[in-house]
Amino acid sequence: MHTQVAIIGAGPAGLLLAQLLHLRRIDSVVLEAKSRHYIEHRVRAGVLESVTVDVLNAAGVGERLMREGLRHEGVHLRFAGRDHRLDFHKLTGRALRVYGQQEVVKDLVDARLATGRPLFFEVEDVSVHGIDSATPEARFRNQGGAETVLHCDFIAGCDGFHGICRQSFPPGVLKLFERVYPYAWLGILAEVPPASEELIYANHENGFALLSMRSPSVSRLYLQCEPDEPLENWPDDRIWSELETRLATRDGFTLPTGAIVQKGVTPMRSFVAEPMQYGKLFLAGDAAHIVPPTGAKGMNSAVADVCVLADALGDFYAGAGAAARLEKLNAYSEKCLRRIWKVQRFSWWVTQMLHRSDADNDFDRRRQLAELDYLSTSEAAELTFAENYVGLPIG
Ligand code: FAD
Ligand code: PHB
Repeated sequence: MHTQVAIIGAGPAGLLLAQLLHLRRIDSVVLEAKSRHYIEHRVRAGVLESVTVDVLNAAGVGERLMREGLRHEGVHLRFAGRDHRLDFHKLTGRALRVYGQQEVVKDLVDARLATGRPLFFEVEDVSVHGIDSATPEARFRNQGGAETVLHCDFIAGCDGFHGICRQSFPPGVLKLFERVYPYAWLGILAEVPPASEELIYANHENGFALLSMRSPSVSRLYLQCEPDEPLENWPDDRIWSELETRLATRDGFTLPTGAIVQKGVTPMRSFVAEPMQYGKLFLAGDAAHIVPPTGAKGMNSAVADVCVLADALGDFYAGAGAAARLEKLNAYSEKCLRRIWKVQRFSWWVTQMLHRSDADNDFDRRRQLAELDYLSTSEAAELTFAENYVGLPIG
Protein backbone atom coordinates (compact mmCIF):
# COMPACT_ATOMS: atom_id res chain seq x y z
CA MET A 1 0.00 0.00 0.00
CA HIS A 2 1.26 3.50 -0.79
CA THR A 3 0.20 7.01 0.18
CA GLN A 4 1.70 10.47 0.50
CA VAL A 5 0.97 10.97 4.22
CA ALA A 6 0.34 8.16 6.73
CA ILE A 7 -1.75 9.59 9.58
CA ILE A 8 -1.67 7.64 12.85
CA GLY A 9 -4.74 8.37 15.00
CA ALA A 10 -8.27 9.55 14.17
CA GLY A 11 -8.80 12.11 16.94
CA PRO A 12 -9.42 15.75 16.06
CA ALA A 13 -5.77 16.18 14.95
CA GLY A 14 -5.57 13.20 12.58
CA LEU A 15 -9.03 13.61 11.07
CA LEU A 16 -8.70 17.35 10.50
CA LEU A 17 -5.25 16.89 8.97
CA ALA A 18 -6.72 14.30 6.59
CA GLN A 19 -9.42 16.78 5.54
CA LEU A 20 -7.00 19.71 5.11
CA LEU A 21 -4.71 17.51 2.99
CA HIS A 22 -7.65 16.29 0.90
CA LEU A 23 -8.54 19.93 0.14
CA ARG A 24 -4.96 20.35 -1.11
CA ARG A 25 -5.31 17.18 -3.21
CA ILE A 26 -2.81 15.33 -1.04
CA ASP A 27 -3.45 11.65 -0.47
CA SER A 28 -3.39 10.13 3.02
CA VAL A 29 -4.31 6.96 4.89
CA VAL A 30 -5.68 7.28 8.44
CA LEU A 31 -5.03 4.43 10.91
CA GLU A 32 -7.09 4.36 14.13
CA ALA A 33 -6.75 1.81 16.94
CA LYS A 34 -10.30 2.18 18.31
CA SER A 35 -13.71 1.61 16.72
CA ARG A 36 -15.74 4.34 15.00
CA HIS A 37 -18.36 4.09 17.73
CA TYR A 38 -15.73 4.56 20.44
CA ILE A 39 -14.16 7.71 18.99
CA GLU A 40 -17.54 9.23 18.19
CA HIS A 41 -18.82 8.79 21.77
CA ARG A 42 -15.79 9.62 23.91
CA VAL A 43 -16.83 12.69 25.97
CA ARG A 44 -13.96 15.15 26.16
CA ALA A 45 -13.46 18.77 25.17
CA GLY A 46 -16.26 21.21 24.55
CA VAL A 47 -15.00 24.72 23.95
CA LEU A 48 -13.91 25.78 20.47
CA GLU A 49 -11.79 28.92 20.12
CA SER A 50 -12.94 31.37 17.47
CA VAL A 51 -9.81 30.44 15.44
CA THR A 52 -10.81 26.75 15.59
CA VAL A 53 -14.33 27.61 14.40
CA ASP A 54 -12.84 29.54 11.46
CA VAL A 55 -10.58 26.60 10.56
CA LEU A 56 -13.43 24.06 10.68
CA ASN A 57 -15.61 26.31 8.53
CA ALA A 58 -12.84 26.84 5.98
CA ALA A 59 -12.29 23.07 5.92
CA GLY A 60 -15.94 22.57 4.96
CA VAL A 61 -16.90 20.77 8.19
CA GLY A 62 -18.53 23.64 10.09
CA GLU A 63 -22.13 23.41 8.90
CA ARG A 64 -23.57 21.46 11.88
CA LEU A 65 -21.25 23.29 14.27
CA MET A 66 -22.72 26.65 13.18
CA ARG A 67 -26.25 25.23 13.46
CA GLU A 68 -26.02 23.31 16.75
CA GLY A 69 -22.93 24.75 18.49
CA LEU A 70 -23.77 27.26 21.22
CA ARG A 71 -22.27 30.70 20.60
CA HIS A 72 -20.72 32.16 23.78
CA GLU A 73 -19.53 35.72 24.12
CA GLY A 74 -18.13 35.48 27.64
CA VAL A 75 -17.55 33.38 30.76
CA HIS A 76 -18.13 33.94 34.48
CA LEU A 77 -15.53 33.80 37.24
CA ARG A 78 -16.77 33.01 40.75
CA PHE A 79 -14.76 33.55 43.90
CA ALA A 80 -15.39 34.73 47.46
CA GLY A 81 -19.14 34.54 46.81
CA ARG A 82 -18.80 37.06 43.96
CA ASP A 83 -19.52 36.63 40.27
CA HIS A 84 -17.67 38.49 37.55
CA ARG A 85 -18.49 38.19 33.85
CA LEU A 86 -15.69 38.50 31.33
CA ASP A 87 -17.16 39.88 28.10
CA PHE A 88 -14.90 38.39 25.43
CA HIS A 89 -16.89 39.85 22.58
CA LYS A 90 -16.61 43.37 23.92
CA LEU A 91 -12.91 42.90 24.70
CA THR A 92 -11.78 41.12 21.53
CA GLY A 93 -14.66 41.24 19.04
CA ARG A 94 -14.66 37.44 19.01
CA ALA A 95 -16.81 34.64 20.41
CA LEU A 96 -16.52 30.90 21.18
CA ARG A 97 -18.62 27.90 20.31
CA VAL A 98 -19.52 25.17 22.80
CA TYR A 99 -19.72 21.97 20.74
CA GLY A 100 -18.63 18.54 21.96
CA GLN A 101 -15.35 17.15 20.68
CA GLN A 102 -17.16 13.94 19.73
CA GLU A 103 -19.45 16.00 17.49
CA VAL A 104 -16.39 17.51 15.77
CA VAL A 105 -15.07 13.96 15.37
CA LYS A 106 -18.39 12.77 13.88
CA ASP A 107 -18.40 15.64 11.36
CA LEU A 108 -14.79 14.89 10.39
CA VAL A 109 -15.41 11.14 10.04
CA ASP A 110 -18.41 11.87 7.78
CA ALA A 111 -16.29 14.26 5.69
CA ARG A 112 -13.51 11.69 5.42
CA LEU A 113 -15.81 8.87 4.36
CA ALA A 114 -17.38 11.18 1.75
CA THR A 115 -13.96 11.70 0.13
CA GLY A 116 -13.62 7.95 -0.41
CA ARG A 117 -10.07 8.11 0.92
CA PRO A 118 -8.99 5.37 3.37
CA LEU A 119 -9.73 5.46 7.10
CA PHE A 120 -9.12 2.16 8.92
CA PHE A 121 -10.66 1.59 12.37
CA GLU A 122 -9.56 -0.98 14.97
CA VAL A 123 -6.12 -1.50 13.43
CA GLU A 124 -3.59 -3.35 15.59
CA ASP A 125 0.17 -3.43 16.07
CA VAL A 126 0.82 -0.05 14.46
CA SER A 127 4.53 0.76 14.15
CA VAL A 128 6.59 3.28 12.18
CA HIS A 129 9.90 2.60 10.43
CA GLY A 130 12.59 4.40 8.43
CA ILE A 131 11.61 7.82 9.74
CA ASP A 132 15.07 9.19 8.96
CA SER A 133 15.20 7.58 5.51
CA ALA A 134 13.76 8.49 2.10
CA THR A 135 11.35 5.55 2.40
CA PRO A 136 9.43 5.76 5.68
CA GLU A 137 6.64 3.29 6.32
CA ALA A 138 3.88 2.50 8.80
CA ARG A 139 3.01 -1.13 9.48
CA PHE A 140 -0.27 -2.35 10.91
CA ARG A 141 -2.64 -5.27 11.07
CA ASN A 142 -6.20 -4.81 9.85
CA GLN A 143 -9.08 -7.03 11.09
CA GLY A 144 -6.58 -9.42 12.67
CA GLY A 145 -5.09 -10.16 9.23
CA ALA A 146 -1.50 -10.24 8.02
CA GLU A 147 0.76 -7.23 8.52
CA THR A 148 0.25 -4.46 5.95
CA VAL A 149 3.15 -2.21 5.01
CA LEU A 150 2.09 1.34 4.18
CA HIS A 151 4.82 3.11 2.19
CA CYS A 152 4.63 6.89 2.41
CA ASP A 153 6.50 10.18 2.09
CA PHE A 154 5.65 11.42 5.59
CA ILE A 155 4.12 10.14 8.82
CA ALA A 156 1.86 12.34 10.97
CA GLY A 157 1.86 11.17 14.59
CA CYS A 158 -1.63 12.23 15.72
CA ASP A 159 -2.03 9.32 18.14
CA GLY A 160 -2.55 11.21 21.38
CA PHE A 161 -0.57 11.20 24.61
CA HIS A 162 -0.36 7.39 24.91
CA GLY A 163 0.40 6.73 21.23
CA ILE A 164 3.43 5.05 19.70
CA CYS A 165 4.73 7.86 17.48
CA ARG A 166 6.47 9.93 20.16
CA GLN A 167 7.96 6.67 21.49
CA SER A 168 9.42 6.06 17.99
CA PHE A 169 11.82 9.00 18.09
CA PRO A 170 15.40 7.72 18.48
CA PRO A 171 16.69 7.84 22.07
CA GLY A 172 18.12 11.19 23.10
CA VAL A 173 16.32 13.29 20.47
CA LEU A 174 13.37 14.43 22.57
CA LYS A 175 13.48 16.77 25.51
CA LEU A 176 10.41 16.37 27.71
CA PHE A 177 8.96 19.13 29.90
CA GLU A 178 6.35 18.11 32.45
CA ARG A 179 4.32 19.21 35.45
CA VAL A 180 1.85 16.88 37.12
CA TYR A 181 -0.71 18.63 39.33
CA PRO A 182 -1.68 17.26 42.74
CA TYR A 183 -5.38 17.19 41.84
CA ALA A 184 -7.77 15.93 39.14
CA TRP A 185 -11.23 16.71 37.71
CA LEU A 186 -14.31 14.65 38.29
CA GLY A 187 -16.44 15.32 35.20
CA ILE A 188 -20.14 14.55 34.79
CA LEU A 189 -22.63 14.77 31.96
CA ALA A 190 -26.17 15.36 33.24
CA GLU A 191 -29.60 15.53 31.66
CA VAL A 192 -30.54 18.92 33.03
CA PRO A 193 -30.69 22.34 31.35
CA PRO A 194 -27.52 24.33 32.18
CA ALA A 195 -28.00 26.57 35.25
CA SER A 196 -26.22 29.38 33.42
CA GLU A 197 -26.16 30.43 29.77
CA GLU A 198 -22.38 30.81 29.95
CA LEU A 199 -19.55 28.81 31.52
CA ILE A 200 -18.78 29.43 35.20
CA TYR A 201 -15.25 28.90 36.54
CA ALA A 202 -15.28 28.84 40.36
CA ASN A 203 -12.52 29.15 42.92
CA HIS A 204 -13.80 27.89 46.30
CA GLU A 205 -12.30 26.87 49.66
CA ASN A 206 -13.33 23.27 48.90
CA GLY A 207 -11.69 23.36 45.46
CA PHE A 208 -12.36 24.30 41.86
CA ALA A 209 -15.69 23.78 40.06
CA LEU A 210 -16.77 24.38 36.47
CA LEU A 211 -20.22 24.59 34.96
CA SER A 212 -20.33 23.92 31.23
CA MET A 213 -22.87 22.43 28.86
CA ARG A 214 -23.39 20.51 25.64
CA SER A 215 -26.86 21.63 24.60
CA PRO A 216 -29.86 23.52 26.04
CA SER A 217 -30.85 20.28 27.82
CA VAL A 218 -27.47 18.73 28.74
CA SER A 219 -25.03 20.08 31.36
CA ARG A 220 -21.34 19.23 31.68
CA LEU A 221 -19.91 19.89 35.14
CA TYR A 222 -16.54 19.37 36.78
CA LEU A 223 -15.25 19.28 40.38
CA GLN A 224 -11.67 19.33 41.58
CA CYS A 225 -10.95 16.00 43.30
CA GLU A 226 -7.98 13.86 44.34
CA PRO A 227 -5.97 12.29 41.48
CA ASP A 228 -7.09 8.68 40.78
CA GLU A 229 -10.01 9.14 43.15
CA PRO A 230 -12.36 6.12 43.07
CA LEU A 231 -15.73 7.05 41.56
CA GLU A 232 -17.44 5.16 44.45
CA ASN A 233 -16.40 8.11 46.66
CA TRP A 234 -18.71 10.29 44.61
CA PRO A 235 -22.35 9.15 44.71
CA ASP A 236 -24.65 11.47 42.72
CA ASP A 237 -26.00 13.29 45.79
CA ARG A 238 -22.53 14.22 46.95
CA ILE A 239 -21.61 15.50 43.48
CA TRP A 240 -24.65 17.77 43.29
CA SER A 241 -24.31 19.14 46.79
CA GLU A 242 -20.60 19.82 46.32
CA LEU A 243 -21.23 21.54 42.98
CA GLU A 244 -23.90 23.71 44.56
CA THR A 245 -21.56 24.68 47.42
CA ARG A 246 -18.66 25.57 45.16
CA LEU A 247 -20.75 27.47 42.60
CA ALA A 248 -22.74 29.43 45.24
CA THR A 249 -22.87 33.21 45.20
CA ARG A 250 -23.98 35.65 47.90
CA ASP A 251 -27.16 36.40 45.96
CA GLY A 252 -28.45 32.84 46.01
CA PHE A 253 -27.46 30.84 42.93
CA THR A 254 -29.37 27.57 42.65
CA LEU A 255 -28.28 24.51 40.72
CA PRO A 256 -31.01 22.30 39.30
CA THR A 257 -30.10 18.60 39.41
CA GLY A 258 -30.82 15.81 36.93
CA ALA A 259 -29.85 12.30 35.88
CA ILE A 260 -26.06 11.85 35.69
CA VAL A 261 -25.43 9.86 32.50
CA GLN A 262 -21.62 9.81 32.53
CA LYS A 263 -18.88 10.19 35.19
CA GLY A 264 -15.10 10.16 34.87
CA VAL A 265 -11.89 11.36 36.54
CA THR A 266 -9.31 13.25 34.46
CA PRO A 267 -5.75 13.72 35.73
CA MET A 268 -4.15 17.14 35.24
CA ARG A 269 -0.83 17.47 33.47
CA SER A 270 1.24 19.98 31.54
CA PHE A 271 3.58 18.27 29.06
CA VAL A 272 5.63 19.29 26.03
CA ALA A 273 7.93 17.14 23.87
CA GLU A 274 10.52 19.03 21.82
CA PRO A 275 11.12 18.95 18.91
CA MET A 276 7.84 17.94 17.28
CA GLN A 277 9.58 16.54 14.20
CA TYR A 278 12.30 14.01 13.48
CA GLY A 279 13.07 13.16 9.85
CA LYS A 280 9.78 12.25 8.16
CA LEU A 281 7.79 11.92 11.39
CA PHE A 282 5.76 14.92 12.58
CA LEU A 283 3.90 14.93 15.91
CA ALA A 284 0.67 16.92 16.29
CA GLY A 285 -1.83 17.47 19.11
CA ASP A 286 -1.75 15.48 22.36
CA ALA A 287 1.04 13.26 20.96
CA ALA A 288 3.35 16.25 21.44
CA HIS A 289 1.77 18.26 24.25
CA ILE A 290 -0.86 18.13 26.99
CA VAL A 291 -2.42 20.96 28.98
CA PRO A 292 -4.57 20.84 32.10
CA PRO A 293 -8.16 21.34 30.86
CA THR A 294 -8.79 24.58 32.81
CA GLY A 295 -7.89 26.80 29.84
CA ALA A 296 -9.96 24.65 27.40
CA LYS A 297 -6.99 24.46 25.07
CA GLY A 298 -6.23 20.79 24.28
CA MET A 299 -8.33 20.20 21.18
CA ASN A 300 -7.76 23.77 20.01
CA SER A 301 -3.99 23.25 20.13
CA ALA A 302 -4.33 20.04 18.12
CA VAL A 303 -6.22 22.03 15.47
CA ALA A 304 -3.54 24.74 15.40
CA ASP A 305 -0.75 22.18 14.89
CA VAL A 306 -2.40 20.45 11.95
CA CYS A 307 -3.12 23.78 10.24
CA VAL A 308 0.60 24.50 10.30
CA LEU A 309 1.41 20.97 9.15
CA ALA A 310 -1.13 20.95 6.31
CA ASP A 311 0.16 24.30 5.08
CA ALA A 312 3.77 23.02 5.14
CA LEU A 313 2.86 19.76 3.36
CA GLY A 314 0.87 21.79 0.84
CA ASP A 315 3.99 23.80 0.01
CA PHE A 316 6.04 20.62 -0.21
CA TYR A 317 3.80 19.05 -2.82
CA ALA A 318 2.92 22.23 -4.75
CA GLY A 319 6.07 24.30 -4.36
CA ALA A 320 8.81 24.93 -6.88
CA GLY A 321 12.49 24.42 -5.96
CA ALA A 322 13.77 21.93 -3.39
CA ALA A 323 14.68 24.53 -0.72
CA ALA A 324 11.37 26.42 -0.96
CA ARG A 325 9.41 23.16 -0.77
CA LEU A 326 11.09 22.21 2.51
CA GLU A 327 11.17 25.61 4.18
CA LYS A 328 7.85 25.35 6.04
CA LEU A 329 8.28 21.67 6.90
CA ASN A 330 11.63 22.44 8.49
CA ALA A 331 10.07 25.30 10.46
CA TYR A 332 7.08 23.19 11.64
CA SER A 333 8.28 22.32 15.12
CA GLU A 334 9.55 25.79 15.96
CA LYS A 335 6.42 27.48 14.68
CA CYS A 336 4.07 25.20 16.66
CA LEU A 337 6.13 25.35 19.84
CA ARG A 338 6.09 29.16 19.95
CA ARG A 339 2.29 29.03 20.17
CA ILE A 340 2.23 25.94 22.39
CA TRP A 341 4.39 27.49 25.09
CA LYS A 342 2.08 30.50 25.29
CA VAL A 343 -0.89 28.13 25.57
CA GLN A 344 0.99 26.15 28.24
CA ARG A 345 1.64 29.33 30.18
CA PHE A 346 -2.02 30.37 30.04
CA SER A 347 -3.32 26.90 30.99
CA TRP A 348 -0.92 26.65 33.93
CA TRP A 349 -1.79 30.18 35.05
CA VAL A 350 -5.58 29.68 35.14
CA THR A 351 -5.11 26.26 36.74
CA GLN A 352 -3.02 27.51 39.66
CA MET A 353 -5.30 30.54 40.07
CA LEU A 354 -8.48 28.49 40.39
CA HIS A 355 -7.50 25.26 42.24
CA ARG A 356 -6.78 24.53 45.89
CA SER A 357 -3.55 22.71 46.58
CA ASP A 358 -2.40 21.18 49.86
CA ALA A 359 0.98 22.70 49.08
CA ASP A 360 -0.54 26.20 49.23
CA ASN A 361 -0.52 28.21 52.44
CA ASP A 362 -2.62 31.19 53.55
CA PHE A 363 -0.37 33.52 51.59
CA ASP A 364 -1.13 31.63 48.37
CA ARG A 365 -4.84 31.76 49.11
CA ARG A 366 -4.79 35.54 49.51
CA ARG A 367 -2.63 35.84 46.37
CA GLN A 368 -5.18 33.81 44.35
CA LEU A 369 -8.04 35.99 45.55
CA ALA A 370 -6.06 39.16 44.77
CA GLU A 371 -5.38 37.83 41.28
CA LEU A 372 -9.09 37.16 40.72
CA ASP A 373 -9.98 40.57 42.18
CA TYR A 374 -7.48 42.22 39.80
CA LEU A 375 -8.91 40.26 36.88
CA SER A 376 -12.37 41.51 37.71
CA THR A 377 -11.41 45.17 38.15
CA SER A 378 -8.76 45.86 35.51
CA GLU A 379 -9.66 46.00 31.83
CA ALA A 380 -6.00 45.31 30.96
CA ALA A 381 -6.13 42.08 32.97
CA GLU A 382 -9.48 41.13 31.45
CA LEU A 383 -8.09 41.65 27.95
CA THR A 384 -5.07 39.44 28.69
CA PHE A 385 -7.38 36.62 29.80
CA ALA A 386 -9.79 37.18 26.92
CA GLU A 387 -7.27 37.17 24.06
CA ASN A 388 -5.75 33.93 25.33
CA TYR A 389 -9.11 32.26 25.97
CA VAL A 390 -10.64 33.06 22.56
CA GLY A 391 -7.43 31.81 20.95
CA LEU A 392 -4.05 33.19 19.90
CA PRO A 393 -3.50 33.46 16.15
CA ILE A 394 -2.12 30.38 14.39
CA GLY A 395 1.32 31.07 12.98
P1 FAD B 1 -6.78 12.25 20.72
O1 FAD B 1 -8.13 12.88 20.71
O2 FAD B 1 -6.28 11.59 21.92
O3 FAD B 1 -6.72 11.27 19.47
C1 FAD B 1 -5.69 10.35 19.28
C2 FAD B 1 -6.25 9.13 18.56
O4 FAD B 1 -5.19 8.23 18.27
C3 FAD B 1 -7.25 8.37 19.41
O5 FAD B 1 -8.45 8.18 18.70
C4 FAD B 1 -6.54 7.06 19.74
O6 FAD B 1 -7.46 5.97 19.84
C5 FAD B 1 -5.63 6.90 18.53
N1 FAD B 1 -4.44 6.08 18.79
C6 FAD B 1 -3.68 6.01 19.90
N2 FAD B 1 -2.68 5.13 19.74
C7 FAD B 1 -2.79 4.65 18.47
C8 FAD B 1 -2.06 3.72 17.71
N3 FAD B 1 -0.98 3.10 18.23
N4 FAD B 1 -2.44 3.45 16.46
C9 FAD B 1 -3.53 4.06 15.92
N5 FAD B 1 -4.28 4.97 16.60
C10 FAD B 1 -3.91 5.24 17.86
N6 FAD B 1 -9.51 20.45 24.98
C11 FAD B 1 -10.06 21.64 24.57
O7 FAD B 1 -9.56 22.23 23.59
N7 FAD B 1 -11.15 22.20 25.19
C12 FAD B 1 -11.74 21.59 26.24
O8 FAD B 1 -12.75 22.09 26.73
C13 FAD B 1 -11.17 20.34 26.72
N8 FAD B 1 -11.74 19.69 27.74
C14 FAD B 1 -11.29 18.42 28.04
C15 FAD B 1 -11.97 17.74 29.03
C16 FAD B 1 -11.57 16.44 29.34
C17 FAD B 1 -12.32 15.72 30.41
C18 FAD B 1 -10.47 15.82 28.64
C19 FAD B 1 -10.03 14.41 28.95
C20 FAD B 1 -9.79 16.53 27.67
C21 FAD B 1 -10.19 17.81 27.36
N9 FAD B 1 -9.55 18.53 26.36
C22 FAD B 1 -10.03 19.77 26.02
C23 FAD B 1 -8.41 17.97 25.66
C24 FAD B 1 -8.77 17.38 24.31
O9 FAD B 1 -9.77 16.41 24.46
C25 FAD B 1 -7.51 16.77 23.64
O10 FAD B 1 -6.48 17.72 23.67
C26 FAD B 1 -7.78 16.33 22.19
O11 FAD B 1 -8.51 15.13 22.18
C27 FAD B 1 -6.47 16.12 21.42
O12 FAD B 1 -6.74 15.61 20.13
P2 FAD B 1 -5.71 14.64 19.42
O13 FAD B 1 -6.33 14.32 18.10
O14 FAD B 1 -4.36 15.21 19.46
O15 FAD B 1 -5.64 13.35 20.34
C1 PHB C 1 -16.14 21.29 28.72
O1 PHB C 1 -17.24 21.79 28.38
O2 PHB C 1 -15.94 20.07 28.67
C2 PHB C 1 -15.05 22.16 29.20
C3 PHB C 1 -15.23 23.54 29.20
C4 PHB C 1 -14.20 24.37 29.63
C5 PHB C 1 -13.02 23.81 30.07
C6 PHB C 1 -12.83 22.45 30.05
C7 PHB C 1 -13.85 21.61 29.61
O3 PHB C 1 -12.03 24.64 30.51
